[in-house]
Formats: sequence, structure tokens, C-alpha cells
Amino acid sequence: MSYLVFARKWRPRDFDEVVGQEHVTRTLRNALLSGKIAHAYLFAGPQGVGKTSCARILAKSMNCEKGMTDKPCGACAVCREITEGRSLDVIEIDGASNRGIDEIRTLRENVKFSPLSGRTKIYIIDEVHMLTPEAFNALLKTLEEPPPYVKFIFATTRPEKVLPTILSRCQRFDFIRIPNLKIVEKLQEICRDEKIKIDDDVLFSVARASGGSLRDAESILDQLISFSQKDIKMGDVVLVLGIIEQEVFAQFVDQMVSRDAAAALELISSAMANGKDMGYFLEGLLEYYRNLMVAKVVKVDVAALMDLPKEALAKTSEQANQMTLNDILMSINHILVAQELAKKLNSGRIPLEILAVRLSQLGAGMKKPNLVIPAPAPAQEKSPHAPRKEEKSCSLQEVVDSWEKIIEDLGRIKMSLATYLRQATPVLLENNTLTVGFPKESVFFKETMGHKDNLKIFENTLKALFDVSLQVKLEIVEGLSSEKDELPAPEEDPFFKSTLDLFKGKVIKKA
Ligand SMILES: Nc1ncnc2c1ncn2[C@@H]1O[C@H](COP(=O)(O)OP(=O)(O)O)[C@@H](O)[C@H]1O
Ligand SMILES: [Mg+2]
Ligand SMILES: [Zn+2]
Repeated sequence: MSYLVFARKWRPRDFDEVVGQEHVTRTLRNALLSGKIAHAYLFAGPQGVGKTSCARILAKSMNCEKGMTDKPCGACAVCREITEGRSLDVIEIDGASNRGIDEIRTLRENVKFSPLSGRTKIYIIDEVHMLTPEAFNALLKTLEEPPPYVKFIFATTRPEKVLPTILSRCQRFDFIRIPNLKIVEKLQEICRDEKIKIDDDVLFSVARASGGSLRDAESILDQLISFSQKDIKMGDVVLVLGIIEQEVFAQFVDQMVSRDAAAALELISSAMANGKDMGYFLEGLLEYYRNLMVAKVVKVDVAALMDLPKEALAKTSEQANQMTLNDILMSINHILVAQELAKKLNSGRIPLEILAVRLSQLGAGMKKPNLVIPAPAPAQEKSPHAPRKEEKSCSLQEVVDSWEKIIEDLGRIKMSLATYLRQATPVLLENNTLTVGFPKESVFFKETMGHKDNLKIFENTLKALFDVSLQVKLEIVEGLSSEKDELPAPEEDPFFKSTLDLFKGKVIKKA
């Protein structure tokens, strides 16, 4: 397949097409509109974020045949020459190759000739910090007294290495790494245009692997296409980039929450077997816990800080809910220690395994849901003031009304629990304690349902449904029957009456 590599094909043609550098493009456009162009600009920032592109757009904007503009036409001879890199008025010098000595010498000789077809002569000097001291000096001389028709645009990935004498003569713009979301949007646009089938989570992986460089993201897409043509799957990305899917980290955290170190060790071992780099595993894990921390701390507009696809965002928030902030911070500390150790050992496997065991044992562990449901203090149990006013509550009626739904939800988590609860009836809700009655013959079900883990699941289901932390108490209630339709009318049933008396309850709804 022969095609123009995306990074070249998709070079932005005007400021509107530049992604993620609005702070730069806005100022440049204003300068163009007001005609207040500086003599020299410095574009600083990492590779592949739009420095060269913006330099060329700026050059076109100054020289477009339609007149100085903030949106070059792209069609006139001057615009086309600049786009194709053959304009005699726009001279690009690469400071990195042969360190610019000859070029700067020529520059000094030529700078005095006025532009040929455009209005301005523009020197774009890439990686300006690489120029030799001699070239720097020569450049400085021209910078000191530039002819009015000459402009300089310097670009650098290492602004700290640019001499202060140069810096002080430039207006500086810092280009930022492009947020993953914006990279994904751009890749989506490219894929639509190129008729490439690809899922968003694949694009997110590409964006993540690009480290904020749109150029790198576009080249990865190139690679993927030459690897799998027009229908790109997650597996291809994993293969081509050797990355670890977010899924794996999500699973790891789940295992930590359920304190399942054994499963985590297996997960690590299978990642190893698939040729994954353990250092990268640790790095990815750090990023994952960072996201958990953000989810825990930030309540509004988490998406802006997370750079994750929607489903991953939901999963992260859900997991963050199951942990305390302290546990997350502790985990991050442990990961950093593991990274140090990995460096020392020059291998990540053992530090990662130690980490897994350590995190799964964290102090009180990740928040155990059943520990957080506050059991009412015994002294308060009879107090009429027990549930404080601001505390959320729900009524027995609501539980009764949703009983079928509760059983259904429980069944989805653990089938057997639904079976047990079908024998039971909610009989009392007081002080956020729900009493569930079992008929005498279902004592086995009651006992099994009463296992700590089962109660936890039950309570979590209630919490999810009513958004109230209820404690569940199971009782054998005389006179209850597992066959609901055989339940006698309470007012006629002496046993039920005594139950009502016992709990000081009243009949809200007849079954
Ligand atoms: N901010 C951006 N907006 C749109 N495309 C970009 C951006 N940054 C990089 N690219 C893509 O990457 C390619 C190389 O970008 P370039 O401007 O040369 O980056 P730099 O000079 O910062 O290394 C462009 O042709 C374009 O396809
Ligand atoms: Mg460049
Ligand atoms: Zn033009």
C-alpha cells in the first residue's frame, strides 16, 4: 500500500487545524490581525506538537498573496510554495544537522536581500539550541539589527539550552503536549477520512503511547495500518506497541480490592509470558492509581483531568469508591518504592510481585464494604433519636415494594442468595437496620444467608438501590411461611401479631 504518511498528509494548513495549542494560535492570530508581528519568535516544546506546522502557517499568513491574514488561503502561489517547502522567502534551517555553521553564514550574507515574491523573508530555525557557538554568534548579529522585512521563528525542544541573549530577543511560546482526548478526536477524523475501522479504546491506547505527540500518534496509526490494513483491533495495538491494556490494570486493582494476591501474581506471570515489560507495567499501574486518586478527590468534571475513554472512566470511579483515599495514596507510595527497587535490581518482576502482595494486604485493606456500614450503637438502638436527621433513610414500605427487584439484583451477583431470600420477608426497618424474617423451616437458608460475605453482598445491593447504608439482621419469625400465598392475613394470625408486637412494627403492605 502506498500512501503519504499521515504526519505529512495531515499537517495543519491553518491555525484552525492546529490541535491543542490554542494559547499559541490565539495570540498569533491576534498579532496577525493587528499587524503587530514580533521580529523573532521562539516556539518551545516537545517533538511533534505543532511547532514547525505553526511556523509555516505563520509564514503563509504573513506572505499570502491575499494580504496579511490570520487564515492563509493555501491556494495562492506563495501559500503553495511554502506548503511544499520550496519558497525562496521562507528558509528552513535545521540546527541539529551539521549544527548550522554554513547555513548561518549564508543566512548572514542573504539576509540583506529583500524578499522575492512575498512581503517578508522568514527564517525558520529548528532545534536552535543545537547551533554551534559560532553559528549562534553570527545569528545574534543579524538578530540585533534585522532588516524590517526579516522575521525569525526559532523552534526548540530544549529551551533551557537556548542562550539568554537569544531568548531575550524573542517572543516565546510554549507548546504543550496534546491531551489524549484531543489526539483521539484527531485520529478519529483521520480514520473517518481514510475509511479505517477502529475502536475508540484502541485510539486511546495509541494516544497514550504517543506521550502527547500528535505526530507520534499519527505514525503509530500508520504502523497499525501497515500491520492490519483497514480493520484494526485492540490485539494489533497490543502486539505492535507491546503495551499493556487498561483492562489488565483494572483487573489488578480489582484483585487488590478483593485482597486476592494469588490472582494478581497469576496476572503478572501471564503478562510476563506475553512479553510485557514489567517496568512498563509499574509505570502503567502508577498512572492507574493516579487516576483513582483523581477520581476520589475530584467530584466535578473528572473527565478533563483523566484523559480516559468513558467506560474506563466509569470503571475507575467505581473502583475509587471501593477504596479509601488513604489506601490509594499508600498504594502510590508502594508503587514508587517498587519502581526504585526495579531500577536497582534491573528487573521489574520481583518488585511487582512484592507490590501485589503488599497492596493486597494494605492495613485495613481496601475499604471492606461491610466494615463501613455503621452498625448502630447498642445504646442508641432503642433511642427514638437514633437516625440523625441529616442521615438518609428509607422505609420498610420501600424495601417491601422493591423486594422482587432486590432479589433479582442479588441473583445476578450470586444466584443462591436469591433462592434463600425468596423464603424470606422484610419485616421491620428501624434505626437503619432491616430485619428480614425467615420461616422456621428455612433455618438453613437463614444460616447460610447470614454468612458475613453474603450479608455484605446483600447490604451492598440495598445500598446501591436505596443509597442508604442499611444493616441487615436475619430472624426466624414464627408463623412466617415460605409459601407467600399461604401467608395468613396478619390481623388474623396470632404468630404474626406477636412478631409485630415483638418489633413494635405495623403492617404496611400485605403480601
Ligand atoms: N498541534 C497539532 N495539530 C495538528 N497536527 C499536529 C499537531 N502537532 C503535530 N501534528 C502532526 O504532526 C506532524 C508534525 O508536526 P510538527 O509541526 O512538525 O511538530 P514539531 O515541529 O512540534 O515537532 C504534523 O504534520 C501533523 O500531522
Ligand atoms: Mg519540527
Ligand atoms: Zn495564500
